[in-house]
Amino acid sequence: MILKEIRDAKDLKTLEQIYRKYLGKKGEITLIFRGLKNLPKEKRAKIAKDANALKALINKELKSKSETLKKESKNQISDKLDITLPGKKIVFGHLHPLTKVLREVSNIFSQMGFEIVEGPEIETEYYNFDALNIPKDHPARDMWNTFWLKVEAERRHQSTSKNAGVKMALEYGANRLLLRTHTSPVQIRYMEKHNPPIKIIAPGNVFRHEATDASHEFQLFQVEGLMVDKNVSVANFKFTIGEFFNRFFGKKINFRLRPDFFPFTEPSFDISINCVVCGGKGCSVCKKTGWVETAGAGMVHPNVFKFCKLNPKEWRGWAFGFGLERLAMMKYKIDDIRLFRSGDLRFLTQF
Ligand code: PHE
Repeated sequence: MILKEIRDAKDLKTLEQIYRKYLGKKGEITLIFRGLKNLPKEKRAKIAKDANALKALINKELKSKSETLKKESKNQISDKLDITLPGKKIVFGHLHPLTKVLREVSNIFSQMGFEIVEGPEIETEYYNFDALNIPKDHPARDMWNTFWLKVEAERRHQSTSKNAGVKMALEYGANRLLLRTHTSPVQIRYMEKHNPPIKIIAPGNVFRHEATDASHEFQLFQVEGLMVDKNVSVANFKFTIGEFFNRFFGKKINFRLRPDFFPFTEPSFDISINCVVCGGKGCSVCKKTGWVETAGAGMVHPNVFKFCKLNPKEWRGWAFGFGLERLAMMKYKIDDIRLFRSGDLRFLTQF
C-alpha cells in the first residue's frame, strides 16, 4: 500500500507529504516506535524489527522515486525551451566618424605607397618649432596658439628665483614641453632616423589654444604628409593630392593651390577644394565662396633638411598637413566641427 502510494506520487511535494505521514514526528511508523514501551516484552522485539525493516524500505523507495522525479523535471524544462524563438538583438557599437575617415585616408595613401607613422602628442619646443625653422623670436609662432606644459622644474624655479625664465632656459634649452600644435614635428623625427627616399603620412591629434565656434576647435585631428626624393616637384605633389581627393570623395574634385606662408616650406601654398556640399555654387559651409580650405602645403625648406642632417642640395621634398575634421565635414555634410567631440549620440549614431 505505502509503496504503491510512493510509486504513484506525481511530484516531490507529494513525496514529502508521504514521508511526513509515515516517518514524520507524528508519522504512523514513528508512533509505532513510540508505542513499543507499552507493549508486552515478548511482542516488542518482533514489532520493533518489522517496523525498522518497513522504515528502511520506505526510505529507500522515497529516495529512488525522488531521484526519478528530479530527472523528469529536468527533461521537462528542456522540453519547454523553444529554440526556434527569435534571439535577442545584440546592439553593436560602431566607429566614430573621424575614425572611419582616418581609415579611409590611411588606406588611400597606403595604396599609393605611403608608410603610416606616428609621433608624440606631448612635444618639445625644439621639434614643434625650432627644427621647423621657427626660431624663438619668429612672429610665425603666433600662428600656433600653444598650450605650454608647466613641468616640475619650472614650478621649482618659479618658487625659488626671481630669474625663473633665465634658469629655465639654461636647464631646458629649447626643450620646454607643449601639446603639439601641428603634426609637422613628425617630419623632423622621421627624417632624423630615416634616409630618403621617404613617403609617409603622420596622422594624429593636435592642440591649439583657441576659442571654439562652428569651424574652430582646440583639439583637432591632422594628417601630415611628406615625400622626399631626388627629383620631386610641385607637379608630383599636385598629382598625388588630386588623386587623393578623387579617391576620397569618389568623384572628380576641383582644387586649387594659392600662395601661402609656412616657415618650414618654400614655396608654400594653401589647398582649397570646390565645396562638395553645394558643388561650388556657394553655401553656408563654404561661406558663399564655393571653395573650402583643406590643407597647408609646400616644398620642404632647405633649413629643415639641415636640421635633420640631410643635404638640401641633394634632396627635395614636399609636405602637406590637412585637418581630418574638414574632410569629414565635407564628405558627410556636417556643419559644426564641435559635434565630433561632443559625445552627442544623436549625432554619432548616424554613422
Ligand atoms: N603644419 C601646418 C599647420 O598646421 C600645415 C603644413 C604642413 C603646412 C606641412 C605645410 C607643410 O598649419
